[in-house]
Amino acid sequence: MATQHKTLADRYSESLATVVPMETPWEIERGEGSYLIDRAGRRYLDLVMGIAVNAIGYAHPDVLRAVSAQAARHMHVYSGSGYQEVVVAYAEALREETGPDYRVFFGNSGAEAVEAAIKLARLHTGRPAVVAFRGGFHGRTMGALSLTASASRYRSLYEPLLPSVYHLDYPAPTRLGLSAGAAMEHVAQQLSQLFLCEVEPSRVAAIVVEAVQGEGGYIIPPADFLPWLREVTHQHGIMLVMDEVQAGMGRTGTMWAYQQAGIDPDLITLGKALGGGLPLSALMGHRDAMERWTAGLHGSTFGGNPVAAAAGLATLQVIREQGLIARAAAVGASALAALEPLADRPDIKEVRGRGLMLAVEFLGPDAPAHVQRVIAESLSRGLYIHPAGVRQDVIRLIPALNLDEDVLLGAIDTLKQVIADTAHE
Ligand SMILES: Cc1ncc(COP(=O)(O)O)c(C=O)c1O
Repeated sequence: MATQHKTLADRYSESLATVVPMETPWEIERGEGSYLIDRAGRRYLDLVMGIAVNAIGYAHPDVLRAVSAQAARHMHVYSGSGYQEVVVAYAEALREETGPDYRVFFGNSGAEAVEAAIKLARLHTGRPAVVAFRGGFHGRTMGALSLTASASRYRSLYEPLLPSVYHLDYPAPTRLGLSAGAAMEHVAQQLSQLFLCEVEPSRVAAIVVEAVQGEGGYIIPPADFLPWLREVTHQHGIMLVMDEVQAGMGRTGTMWAYQQAGIDPDLITLGKALGGGLPLSALMGHRDAMERWTAGLHGSTFGGNPVAAAAGLATLQVIREQGLIARAAAVGASALAALEPLADRPDIKEVRGRGLMLAVEFLGPDAPAHVQRVIAESLSRGLYIHPAGVRQDVIRLIPALNLDEDVLLGAIDTLKQVIADTAHE
């Protein structure tokens, strides 16, 4: 056999597009709770979790049961072919978490939910323009990519993108080098300049924003940012779209991260953990907007796949029954406290976190290289972690919501040691 003497890595690079950078040399065999296990039987603590997908870890028995029961019934029926119990039940459960006036449209990926948001906002308002934020990540399909501004390399070779998309700075005090108050003033100033010089607010359909920037570096904006944005959008009849694809499903200590700002968005995009490990996304919106989508104006072959809905619903039930949202807040707070001494190091700019979205931002010209060294050395010590940030100078920790607290604190000890061991090479 031609493949016998080739490694899996060789076969991969011969047969697959190599556009997705391979982060580890591991030949992955299976996942168990918060651990990935390779073909040689080595176990790695996974603080990436499929990039915030596996909220309750790998192979949770409740999820496996729900998936196999639904798969045995039917794995796929087009969402327009008939009423499906599990899909309706999941939409009902999501409305319980969001508000009774909301309706759900299911898609497959986060990007697809963002595309749906752009389309519905245009349809509902009759306006063309969309405003998003620098450092934001909303996906890689052409509409979503037009909003994404967390790295110019994601965008610039694919231009022209969607027209009438405008970007503002996100009020990220550390990135802007400003206090929280000054960062807010700066962004408010940018918005009024945008309305004055580039696009009248009456032409703006939507402002799309993350409550905590994910890919952009786990940036937590000042507390008055979202309430201010809600006020401005109300004032001008602009739809406020909260992108909860990464921060949602309990990770930040509330079901949706925007809930901590006490606001009610017009549209909400969900993905990642929503499908309990299977591809599922959703656009949620208030009834008046959702009813603009009369029959046939939007759709998706796989959107609302019943097996994905079963996995997602089972995951949500575990999150509820085990109180994992409050736990994310509590364990996140002790993890943050454990990370905080790192801020005293001269090569660390900031340590921050909300719930189980935790980040360490590195400082200086060596920062991106230091982050790479930390990730590589952590891998060799059995710890899988991910970078983030517009300069890739941040390490983000995205543990499963049910990861044992002592294991997480142990991993943070390892991380601290690795940061020290890999400094100034
Ligand atoms: C906030 C946010 N929105 C949208 C997306 C796009 O999701 P997907 O990769 O499933 O298209 C991501 C992915 O990282 C994200 O973090």
